[in-house]
Amino acid sequence: MRKIIIAGNWKMYKTSVEAVELVTELKRTLGDMNDVDVVVCPPATALAEVKDVLNECSIGLGAQNMYWDDFGAFTGEVSAPMIKAIGVEYIIIGHSERRQFFGETDATVNKKIKAALKHQLIPIVCIGEVLAERESGKTFDVIKTQLEGSLVNLTAAETENLILAYEPVWAIGTGKTATPDQAQEVHKFIREWLTKKFDAAVANKVRIQYGGSVKPENTAELMGQPDIDGALVGGASLKSDSFAAIVKNCLALK
Ligand code: PGA
Repeated sequence: MRKIIIAGNWKMYKTSVEAVELVTELKRTLGDMNDVDVVVCPPATALAEVKDVLNECSIGLGAQNMYWDDFGAFTGEVSAPMIKAIGVEYIIIGHSERRQFFGETDATVNKKIKAALKHQLIPIVCIGEVLAERESGKTFDVIKTQLEGSLVNLTAAETENLILAYEPVWAIGTGKTATPDQAQEVHKFIREWLTKKFDAAVANKVRIQYGGSVKPENTAELMGQPDIDGALVGGASLKSDSFAAIVKNCLALK
């Protein structure tokens, strides 16, 4: 049985003061939640202060991006050892906004996954098609290419340690959610791909989150699908009441 994991991607929102306010409230409402894994991913500037608040509670801490080398002359970047030293446990890799605006490719995603795993960070690897690809019937081809490129040269043991996030790009921040059937169909495809590449044991272990306009009202229906194991939440993770409601709506499910 895979445990549901709900992660909040705060993107480029919240100063450290605002981040501390939000996470303090989340700790009050969700801090002893053990039936669902809960993770917050604040901007890099707030990681340390958020970690201080999270001490001694069940909410995990994630970062939104990192570089693949441990150190070096890479102005503006942060590395896995640097975020690890703060107490970060999860790292979002290959979010569509990074692919779209910062030139990330499956090849760079692969390097980041390897670096994350080397430092015992849990990668949350994002994949998903854009609207034109869906409308031209290319969704499965795109997903397959992204999986092949992003996970190339990973062993079964490494793959078991990561989380995948299927995020149809047309559903991110648009208010347009994939229907539970549309999402389940792609999640099932991803799990079948994992079975083919490794085996059923690996495929059954990997958690696959859905992302794209997840809100309290659509959580139960999406998370109730057999191959959807959690959510990566953007907009609705910026307010404690909507994020807490999403987590609580998962409770009776699995
Ligand atoms: P959204 O973002 O929930 O605001 O659609 C999801 C994401 O980008 O991970």
